[in-house]
Amino acid sequence: MSVYYGRVSYWDERFSKELQPFDWYARFGHFKRFVVQHLKRSDYILIVGCGSSRFTEELYNSEYTSVANIDYSSVVIKQQAERHQEKKRFAQCSVAAFVA
Ligand SMILES: C[S@@+](CC[C@H](N)C(=O)[O-])C[C@H]1O[C@@H](n2cnc3c(N)ncnc32)[C@H](O)[C@@H]1O
Repeated sequence: MSVYYGRVSYWDERFSKELQPFDWYARFGHFKRFVVQHLKRSDYILIVGCGSSRFTEELYNSEYTSVANIDYSSVVIKQQAERHQEKKRFAQCSVAAFVA
């Protein structure tokens, strides 16, 4: 495991080089049955540390449309906002802002 995962500079640099979307764990299809079981289409969903994942757009395509995304990397937030111009729900924000 990289010792740099906890640094925003690591993620900024990584996302500056990796311009294609990447799903770290698995695509939405693997989780869909759990999502459908536990979340209503009308629920508000916050994706924390969204990265360049396609999870949010796949949620949206499954009619979960109230989805907001945060990540502390301004680089990936800019990329995601450009990729999803019609639904700009991406904000640069650190989890630390909520727990400090
Ligand atoms: C392993 S990647 C996972 C990305 C995505 N969730 C996925 O499944 O593909 C971790 C992400 O969390 C973000 N991150 C790490 N620490 C964070 C923090 N304290 N606040 C907000 N985002 C954070 C990183 O910038 C990175 O995009």
